Amino acid sequence: MKKIVLFASGSGSNVENIVRYFQENNSSVIASVVLTNKSDAKVIDRCNRLNISCLYFNKNAFYKTNVIRDLLINTKPDLIILAGFLWKMPENIIQDFPTKIINIHPALLPKYGGKGMYGNNVHKAVKENNEPETGITIHYVNENYDEGAIIFQAKTPVFENDSVAEIAVKVHKLEYEHFPRTIKKLLFDN
Ligand code: GRF
Repeated sequence: MKKIVLFASGSGSNVENIVRYFQENNSSVIASVVLTNKSDAKVIDRCNRLNISCLYFNKNAFYKTNVIRDLLINTKPDLIILAGFLWKMPENIIQDFPTKIINIHPALLPKYGGKGMYGNNVHKAVKENNEPETGITIHYVNENYDEGAIIFQAKTPVFENDSVAEIAVKVHKLEYEHFPRTIKKLLFDN
């Protein structure tokens, strides 16, 4: 049995998509727990519906105590997945889990990454710069936002008339298609 732990700060549609994918396609992968830093995040409702554990933690617990670190160490996950998680991982957790923490970014890194580059901020910047294409990047997490080694990228065209919302839809579509499959590869092909 492979164990995954997911972190999310918002809607959690990727969390839901990943959990459903493994429920439907591969019962040897289990989501041990979902962790969130927002007490009213939609991801909590999704976890309730999916019948998986979701725990909320605050800044103090994350950065000043070992509560989350110990939880991860005790869970022994095969992969830690950041799916729309907006806080920086503490360095000690990164060091405890080398090559086991991955993130998804809604653009083609190294472009449009870094602090403040999340959600619609990214898609707005892509539109303002008249980029002919955008996409997703799945990468390992290191000490700097969006700078870890790239594992996978997929692209989609951006047309002049595309709104920010339309770009977001295209990018989410790529995420739903490729994130679970990339996770599966990382879990079983190494
Ligand atoms: C996704 O676009 C992901 O790339 C980014 O945050 C968004 C999360 O969306 N890191 P959701 O919460 O999974 O719906």
